[in-house]
Amino acid sequence: MCGIVGYIGGQQAYPILIEGLRKLEYRGYDSAGVALLNGGGLQIIKSAGRLHELEQKIGPDSPAGQIGIGHTRWATHGRPSDSNAHPHSDCTGEFVVIHNGIIENYQTLRQQLRADGHIFRSETDTEVLAHLVEHHYRGNLTAALRKVMAQISGSYAMVVMSGREPYRLVCARKDSPLIVGLGHGENFIASDIPALLRHTRDTYILDDGELAEVTKETVNIETSRGPVKKPVYHVRWDAVAAEKEGYDHFMLKEIHEQPKAIRETLRSRLGEGRVTLEELCITPDQAKGFRKVVMVACGTAYHAGLVGKYVFEKLLRLPVEVDVASEFRYRNPLLGPDNLVIVISQSGETADTLAALRLAGEQGCTVVAITNVVGSTVSREAHQVIYTWAGPEIAVASTKAYTTQLIVLYLLAIHLGTLTETISPDQSAALTSELFRLPAKVDAILKKNDQILEFARTLQKWEDAFFIGRGLDYAVALEGSLKLKEISYIHAEAYAAGEMKHGTLALITSQIPVIALATQPDLHEKMWSNITEVKARGAYVLAITMEGDAQTAKEADTVFEIPHTLPQLAPVLSVIPLQLLAYHAAVLRGCDVDKPRNLAKSVTVE
Ligand code: AGP
Repeated sequence: MCGIVGYIGGQQAYPILIEGLRKLEYRGYDSAGVALLNGGGLQIIKSAGRLHELEQKIGPDSPAGQIGIGHTRWATHGRPSDSNAHPHSDCTGEFVVIHNGIIENYQTLRQQLRADGHIFRSETDTEVLAHLVEHHYRGNLTAALRKVMAQISGSYAMVVMSGREPYRLVCARKDSPLIVGLGHGENFIASDIPALLRHTRDTYILDDGELAEVTKETVNIETSRGPVKKPVYHVRWDAVAAEKEGYDHFMLKEIHEQPKAIRETLRSRLGEGRVTLEELCITPDQAKGFRKVVMVACGTAYHAGLVGKYVFEKLLRLPVEVDVASEFRYRNPLLGPDNLVIVISQSGETADTLAALRLAGEQGCTVVAITNVVGSTVSREAHQVIYTWAGPEIAVASTKAYTTQLIVLYLLAIHLGTLTETISPDQSAALTSELFRLPAKVDAILKKNDQILEFARTLQKWEDAFFIGRGLDYAVALEGSLKLKEISYIHAEAYAAGEMKHGTLALITSQIPVIALATQPDLHEKMWSNITEVKARGAYVLAITMEGDAQTAKEADTVFEIPHTLPQLAPVLSVIPLQLLAYHAAVLRGCDVDKPRNLAKSVTVE
């Protein structure tokens, strides 16, 4: 969630740092700062707020220096303020540090350092790092950082710079991403690839416990066991893919990218009525040996898991548990070697999901990750990985990641169902040929954007909304409600429609908007009763149905039809109008769609 950029070379560092930090704005932040070294002279400038506030503070005369570090902070310890913004420095002002993550033992360290006479100027956990470097420094910055690493617990991606050694940057990581970008006569450091793409595509992706010493000509990487030789990772994706391409917001662009993202995710995995997941090494015997499937994730990815539960239980006839990762990791779950644990994470860096993955691995489960980011921590630590080929998702609100996660869950269910022989070749053929048709059907929904915009004009005036559904529709209702909340700040509740009369119906009053999902034919009659119930109390009902469903259209005030598809696959289509609805309501209410308040794209701390 915080952003890190570092530069060392022959150019002025300041513009490179600012431009790199701007590329990481999507990660979410509430303050920013830079530190530049000019000869031995160190200049630190930082400010609460967005990058333009930092630039305003700096004014027209950019700080000089060919080595520097920059940071965008998302507050964890201490409120967003100038003094809590990074970089942080020690008592002498000679050592500066930027850091993503959380130092868990910072309070003990702070007390010890205070007792030794160190003076603290911020409320952050990060500041202890600068004082520890000062404490351990004996003429070698790398050696000092090594000692600091041995003393701290928690997660970190950090970069250290010092006027005593104005010819190198030293950085290290544990449980928080960090990359070194390789140039000619210059090198870069960043927490994420987009910050580097204008300058280089050749990178070293640091692993946990690695420390890198970066000069303008060299990069030396080591762990506590000695030097490490790493392969250069060449970034293939295009910087343009991370730009808005004419859309007003990344979120709208990403909603429209879904047909392509789904096609990419299906590509080479479907053929002749069968699913081929070459990346997955699970034998028929192994598949038949699974006694339980557990899906673990956070937020939108968790909602994808909820759809997965219905699909897996139907196709595999195996019990499936779905859990929020932050709950799963602390509830001492009953796991064993005959469990298949599926972790789902767009970023592959979500702290709770990662902890759940590690826990499942320790308990001897087979852990399969579904993620969108190659080289992410989740992808590296899971036993097996299936990628969603959605491309970079920049908007905080997840859209194309969700639909591609659903696609991978369908592929995995069909694949495992074939191995266990719980689905017939005919069923597999019917599902795969319909999966092929989904991108065109998503396209058809996107063309009906104006219909959703019209409903959004009505919705945006209210402060509360309800989403109801049954079965798979309930799982999608949860995602629709989350989307609306997170970007339009309209309070929304998602309810299993049959549960309304056990309490929630008390909240339904005249004109409250209810979005009723009714795409599942076997539950239609039940949904019609639920729609009648809320309408009888004055609610205004928008129903999402499959085309040709005249009865639902009759029950609701207004209806949005998705193209006909197999009921199991309907979530991929029914979520699209809900994403558009949230988007338009947010724009009409003047919200910061791509960077909603208090939220970050990648939640790398608990
Ligand atoms: C989605 O709109 C959210 N911003 C959020 O719930 C997200 O899905 C969650 O934080 C999980 O992220 P991940 O998929 O990167 O693990």
